[in-house]
Amino acid sequence: MKNILHIISSPRVEISASRKLGNAVVKRIQEKYPDAVVKERDLTKHLVPVLEEKHINTFFSPAESHSPEQAEINEYSIGLISELQEADIIVIDSPMYNFSVPTTIKAYFDFTSRAGYTFKYDENGPKGLLNDKKLYIAFTSGNIYSEGPSQIYDSNVPYVKNIFGFYGVTDVSVFRAEGLAIPGIMETSLEKAIDNITID
Ligand SMILES: Cc1cc2nc3c(=O)[nH]c(=O)nc-3n(C[C@H](O)[C@H](O)[C@H](O)COP(=O)(O)O)c2cc1C
Repeated sequence: MKNILHIISSPRVEISASRKLGNAVVKRIQEKYPDAVVKERDLTKHLVPVLEEKHINTFFSPAESHSPEQAEINEYSIGLISELQEADIIVIDSPMYNFSVPTTIKAYFDFTSRAGYTFKYDENGPKGLLNDKKLYIAFTSGNIYSEGPSQIYDSNVPYVKNIFGFYGVTDVSVFRAEGLAIPGIMETSLEKAIDNITID
């Protein structure tokens, strides 16, 4: 039985293209694994806080020394990480916002990038601790970044891949609905991206 973690990040709900693409990816995975269990982490329903000094102090100090407030912060962060650890398959909706990821995703990474949990350092340098997982990125954007002159402005897909790669998740497929603001492309981009989803 597969555990799927679906990470949702668009503040838009009804009209969100990334939610539609991400949901379609999850649906395809369920078609392949009918008994899969889906856990949703909607980052817009329960906002991960913007990183403050109290969070950093918590993450970089031993649990035995934590104050009650720090214990609560630590528990929350470890709760998010547990969902990643338990997942066999991770689907992340990653819409392009100002050439990068929505703030919801950055905050999520700030709370899940923890030495000893998602990565560790050994004699060879950093080593990811989330192994044997598959990641699907559901990327949507107004412009086109997979080719052409705007490629260098993409701080979304390479960033998401880098963070998950750092966590040890290196088996990645990216589904793209691009050009959602370009007449002539926008009308069919999402539909085509959904049609082209393949689950390996
Ligand atoms: C606040 C905001 C910022 C955006 N920034 C960009 C951008 O930098 N480049 C781009 O190609 N599209 C940009 N877009 C368009 C979105 O990437 C596109 O609408 C995408 O579908 C958004 O995903 P969503 O519909 O799931 O929210 C932006 C849209 C919004 C609302």
